Amino acid sequence: TKTLKGFPQNFLWGGATAANQLEGAFDVDGKGLSSADMIAYVPKAERKNDHAIEISSERLEDILAGKVNARFPKREGVDFYHRYKEDIALFAEMGFKVFRMSIHWSRIFPNGYDAEPNEAGLQFYDNVFDELRKYGIEPLVTLSHYETPLGLTQKYNGWLGREVVDHYVKYAETVFTRYKDKVKYWMTFNEINMLLHLPFLGAGLVFQEGENVKQIQYQAAHHQLVASALAVKACHEIIPDAKIGCMLAAGSFYPYTCNPEDVYQGMEKDRESYFFIDVQSRGEYPGYAKRFFKDHGLNIEMESGDAAILKDHTVDYIGFSYYSSRTTSTDPEVVKNMTSGNVFGSVANPYLDKSEWGWTIDPKGFRITANQLHDRYQKPLFVVENGFGANDVVSPEGEVNDDYRIDYLKRHIAEMGEALQDGVEIIGYTSWGPIDIVSASSGEMKKRYGYIYVDRDNEGNGSLKRIKKKSFHWYKNVIHSDGENL
Ligand code: BG6
Repeated sequence: TKTLKGFPQNFLWGGATAANQLEGAFDVDGKGLSSADMIAYVPKAERKNDHAIEISSERLEDILAGKVNARFPKREGVDFYHRYKEDIALFAEMGFKVFRMSIHWSRIFPNGYDAEPNEAGLQFYDNVFDELRKYGIEPLVTLSHYETPLGLTQKYNGWLGREVVDHYVKYAETVFTRYKDKVKYWMTFNEINMLLHLPFLGAGLVFQEGENVKQIQYQAAHHQLVASALAVKACHEIIPDAKIGCMLAAGSFYPYTCNPEDVYQGMEKDRESYFFIDVQSRGEYPGYAKRFFKDHGLNIEMESGDAAILKDHTVDYIGFSYYSSRTTSTDPEVVKNMTSGNVFGSVANPYLDKSEWGWTIDPKGFRITANQLHDRYQKPLFVVENGFGANDVVSPEGEVNDDYRIDYLKRHIAEMGEALQDGVEIIGYTSWGPIDIVSASSGEMKKRYGYIYVDRDNEGNGSLKRIKKKSFHWYKNVIHSDGENL
């Protein structure tokens, strides 16, 4: 289809990844362990819910004592660590203008609190950035994508410790200084609001029975928000021509009915996420958050300079992921029919289809979400994740005909074009997992997002060979035509 979408010529088309799902080589060249390295693969039949990822302090001890007999697929990734040249050449062939990746913090500071950075880790990312530069691909780097060094969990219970702010800022300053000529787009924390849903992955937090989970989570959130603002400050000082953003797991909540109770609940659920971005972008705690703390008896410790730090160092742009909208209801009967989807609980929306993993498919919701974010923050947006997780099958001829993925992406990109025409400013679009990587929520390889197939299964078998899927050629054409040929 030929469309007139009006994507600007300098629009940054590309793909998005995270070190822990991509690189492998978890113990190579001095890398320390991180939260992601602790996530075992649990076969679907044995999983309590759709998410294999949350772990208690007891389970962490068992894993470290070698008592858990399981695979840890994020330690292996898809071996980008050794194959980055081949993979980047494929991204370049599709015409990528930008590549989103994260630096695995524990490659640089193996325990998180080390006095000196690990040179071999720094060198690896130099190599990757140089390879991208060869093809004119702009790196977009997330400082922390579910990759808190395990040492920080062991020493401080992760982001609960105020000390972690300083360790993170030191790490940020180290990489800003090292890569100041190579990286101009940064993000402080991936899906920062996920801390409330996946506290171990999001903030390296583990809980003991009977602890006040909300108190711990919001205290850790405060530390991340201060750390994020200090990273913005450091980035602006060290790389004056860089842009640094926040990153929200987005997807607006719809009220199930026009009952004001449902509408109010939808607003509250959105605010649970907006809370983080309100602080990062507007520079202060919103009134509704203060009320929430009061109503729940939470007492968040803040240092005297914190308010000024938050106020003075707000983000340049709003990065967000969008997979699905969500639906909420106050009716106990309706709530019985839940679906999964990016970890947020959601009532099943009778108007919308779902993926095999229960993630709702709602292209129009993408336009709605983008407009709402732009209306609220009046800053440029960067769509840093969107995509369709599916179980691809290689045909006997060695082809992957992923028409369902093309269909999902096509409809979403078309809605992004509509949002642009609504006046929403969007810097670029990086679809999730342009090459198949380990799933964050399930540890599966089978849940694939890529334009490039990787020969690897859930059990860790396979040659790791890369195969171009049908969507590879489709996306290449989308980029080549500046979004006109969808
Ligand atoms: C986002 C995360 O929430 O969703 C990614 O930032 C993740 O790390 C992506 O991979 C897709 O989720 P999943 O569980 O299908 O891999």
